[in-house]
Amino acid sequence: MRLSLNIDHIATIREARRAREPEPVTAAVIAELAGAEGITVHLRGDRRHIQDRDVELLRRIVATKLNIEMAATPEMIEIARRIKPDQVTLVPERPDEVTTTGGLDVLQHGDAVRHAVAACGAAGIRVSVFVDAIGAQVDASKAAGADAIEINTGPYADAPGQQRAAELARIALAADRAAERGLEVLAGHGLNYVNVAPIVKLSPIVEANIGHSIIARAALVGLDRAVREMVALLKS
Ligand code: PXP
Repeated sequence: MRLSLNIDHIATIREARRAREPEPVTAAVIAELAGAEGITVHLRGDRRHIQDRDVELLRRIVATKLNIEMAATPEMIEIARRIKPDQVTLVPERPDEVTTTGGLDVLQHGDAVRHAVAACGAAGIRVSVFVDAIGAQVDASKAAGADAIEINTGPYADAPGQQRAAELARIALAADRAAERGLEVLAGHGLNYVNVAPIVKLSPIVEANIGHSIIARAALVGLDRAVREMVALLKS
C-alpha cells in the first residue's frame, strides 16, 4: 500500500503564527525522500492552513503524486485546472468543522461531482471522491465518472472495541465493490500507527491518505523517521 502524506498540519503550524516557517514544500521533499509516494493538501475555502502559493510551489516540486483535496465549487475547480495536480479529491466542506467530518454525499450532489470530474478530466487531472463505506455512494461515484474513491476510515478509527470489526467489514465490502466497478480504491481519515494494520490487509486498497498521526509523531521524532515508520507498516 502506498502512503500519500497529508501535510496540512505543517501549514497549520505556520499559520498559527502567520509566519514563514515551517515550509510545506520542505516537508513534501523530506516525505518523498523517506518513501511517501504522494503528497496531499486540502485547499480550504477559508485558507485556514494551505494557501494558494503552497499548491503552486508544491506543483513545481512534488515528484511523486500531488493530490489536492477540495470542495466541488467553481472557485476550486478553476484553481485545479490552473495548477494541474495529478489528482483532485472531492470532499464535503463545512466552514465550522475542525476536520472533514464524513464522506461526500454523491447521491445528493451527483451533478456537482459529474461537472467537477468532467472539468478536471478535460485538464488531465484524475478525480477521486471521498465517500463513506456505503455501496450506493460507490455506485454513484462510478456513475459520476470518478477515477477513484477514497473510503472514509474515520468511523472505523473512532469505533469502540466491538464495533470496530463491523466498521472494518463495511470498508472491505465497499472496497471490493469499487474495485469490481473499475475504480481505484484509496482510504483515509483517522488512520494511525496502531489501527492501520487491518486496513493494509484489504487488497483492493492501494493507497492510504494519512496526515494527523504522522505529523504528530514527526513533532516528537522527526518527519523522516515518522514517514519511514508508516511506510514500513503499509508495506508489511
Ligand atoms: N482523507 C481526507 C479526505 C481528509 O480530509 C483527511 C484530513 O484532512 C485525511 C484523509 C487525513 O486524515 P488524518 O489527518 O486523520 O490522517
